[in-house]
Amino acid sequence: MKLWGGRFEKETDERAAEFLHSFRFDIRLAEQDLRGSIAHARMLGRQGIIGEEESARLVEGLERIREEVRSGDPRFDPTSEDIHSAVETRLREIVGEVAGKLHTARSRNDQVVTDLRLWLREQGEETARAIRALQSALVGQAERHVETVLPGFTHLQPAQPVVLAHHLLAYFWMLERDHGRLRDALERMNLSPLGSGAMAGTGFPIDREFTAQELGFAAPTPNSMDAVADRDFVVEYMAFAALCVVHLSRLAQEITMWAAPQFGFVTLDDAYSTGSSIMPQKKNPDVAELTRGKTGRVIGHLTGTLAVLKGLPLTYNSDLQEDKEALFDTVDTLKLALHVFEGMVRTATFNRERMAAAAGRGFTTATDVADDLARRGVPFRQAHEIVGRMVAHCEQNNKALEDLTSGELREFWPDFPEEYRLNTPLESAASRNSYGGTAPERVREQLEAARRKL
Ligand code: ARG
Repeated sequence: MKLWGGRFEKETDERAAEFLHSFRFDIRLAEQDLRGSIAHARMLGRQGIIGEEESARLVEGLERIREEVRSGDPRFDPTSEDIHSAVETRLREIVGEVAGKLHTARSRNDQVVTDLRLWLREQGEETARAIRALQSALVGQAERHVETVLPGFTHLQPAQPVVLAHHLLAYFWMLERDHGRLRDALERMNLSPLGSGAMAGTGFPIDREFTAQELGFAAPTPNSMDAVADRDFVVEYMAFAALCVVHLSRLAQEITMWAAPQFGFVTLDDAYSTGSSIMPQKKNPDVAELTRGKTGRVIGHLTGTLAVLKGLPLTYNSDLQEDKEALFDTVDTLKLALHVFEGMVRTATFNRERMAAAAGRGFTTATDVADDLARRGVPFRQAHEIVGRMVAHCEQNNKALEDLTSGELREFWPDFPEEYRLNTPLESAASRNSYGGTAPERVREQLEAARRKL
């Protein structure tokens, strides 16, 4: 059954129908579509726009369809144009001609965007929970590794020793910002477009406050033209998702490196690794790699959707139907990535000895020596120069800084004390005790702050 046959003399071309129909993917909105229609049908009855009795029959029929959907036995015509026509067709089978009254004072333009807001609101809450779970896994690992040292890098060159908890909590704070962006988007999203009609509102005495309340929205949208044309809430979720998955992808890159035997910093649980079909020794960090790979499509959905929107005149245009597959895939991809990351992080084993051994390699305590000279009155620039020459000397002679005797040290700066001992990597990390620094005492406070967010 078509919702718009009246002025047409011919059937839609078969290929054109295949091209135009959205039912195969917007069936995912069935639950939300029914919820919106039930609220609308109730409102029509309360306002006397249709009879109380008619309203009750519509609601009953819609509730029955909802039961069919929930029990996994939907009775929709698979050739339907979209979920909206599928529901109306099924409703007619159940309640008869009165089904035709449901669409009074409503358009699919306000209907579809109501459905999508309802759907994304739920999915957004699930996404938020998945972020929280991953943050908890990071905090759990951080708690175990407040005194585990590893090299911190800049330019992927050894920089200064840090503790692993500090490194892991960096990702906690990225996710904290993601969570905040999602919450902001969810709040802005929570307005009801229902009752905006095709785009100009309606002359029927509808009650938009009532339907908004029934659907748990904070208020009705204030402008009917904006309401049916707006997909900012979709873009906001996609933008949040793109950045969030970029964060996962950066962690994925580190885990992938750290899992390589050349680093050997982390051993991933078998449940989150895979093997090679030819090389028996292989254990690959697939979850991390694939997340890094899937980041491409999540970014793509954001830019793709912005491109769909950029030239659209007000108000509804069929182009907008393209929002759904991109959004569904964005939500599915991100939620699944967050879930597998949670498991991968929670079950990972960090190799303290490997990290500790690497922490001191590559002159990572050179800054400590320069700082020390600066404390002894040498201008920092000059101290930097002195230690730089020490490093060059060590490199040429295949030595570490701590191998230099006091005699050698004094060739670079005459006032080196007789017994000069360099910081160990852990002492080095512990010395950086400024607020937000890597010293275990600061990191313990940071952990407290992180736990308070959860
Ligand atoms: N299937 C459409 C979408 O997904 C909803 C119908 C919009 N209205 C229309 N007259 N085609 O956006």
